[in-house]
Amino acid sequence: MNILVTAGPTREPIDPVRFLSNRSSGKMGYELAAAFAHAGHSVLLVSGPTALDVPDRVDFLPVETAAEMHTAVAHHLGRMAIAVFAAAVADYTPATVAAEKIKKSGDSLTLELVRTPDLLGSARSPLGFTGTLVGFAAETGPPAAQAREKLTRKQCDLVIANDVSKPGFGFDSDANEVILVYPDHTEELPPASKHNLAHLLVDTILELHQRLKT
Ligand code: CTP
Repeated sequence: MNILVTAGPTREPIDPVRFLSNRSSGKMGYELAAAFAHAGHSVLLVSGPTALDVPDRVDFLPVETAAEMHTAVAHHLGRMAIAVFAAAVADYTPATVAAEKIKKSGDSLTLELVRTPDLLGSARSPLGFTGTLVGFAAETGPPAAQAREKLTRKQCDLVIANDVSKPGFGFDSDANEVILVYPDHTEELPPASKHNLAHLLVDTILELHQRLKT
């Protein structure tokens, strides 16, 4: 099957030397891409900048900004059976990018930011994706309610949610503790390394895909 995975942060340029970004390491998305490929699937990994090696047998499409990630996803989504949106996409980008390095002047500086496209939120409509749609929800605090709201709003089949404020889990760590939020129930998984968790999640997503198809 063809499977799309988005991963990593995006970088939104402010001027030629500065950008806005976030703490995503990309590890969870890369582990998922590797585990899908290990299970014999054809994987396209669309990734923002990370320090990670591209997993073996995975097609790799590097991007920088949310807009570039959106263009890449829109171009490839139509041929995918499953799409997993693990990227930490910037929600806002500078309204203008300064052509020259911004010089200090005055005691404060105000940047105007504008919304970026919501990739996961546009998968069903307007992009018309009919395959199995999986999102992530990284929250500070108990994630279930917010994950369920995202599941509904973005018309996902599954949202994988975690509390990134828990010490030892989340953004830059090697471990994660997640809950699986489905339209009709929620399931808590025990803490695990991102590597082991990815294999479990891949089995879960493949089973879900089979169930939804029949
Ligand atoms: N996502 C996306 N494109 C965006 C923002 C988010 O594809 N511009 C995806 C993420 O990859 C993730 C899911 O949407 O799978 C939830 O991301 P999150 O940042 O938690 O949700 P938001 O819609 O940005 O909601 P909020 O800012 O209100 O938490």
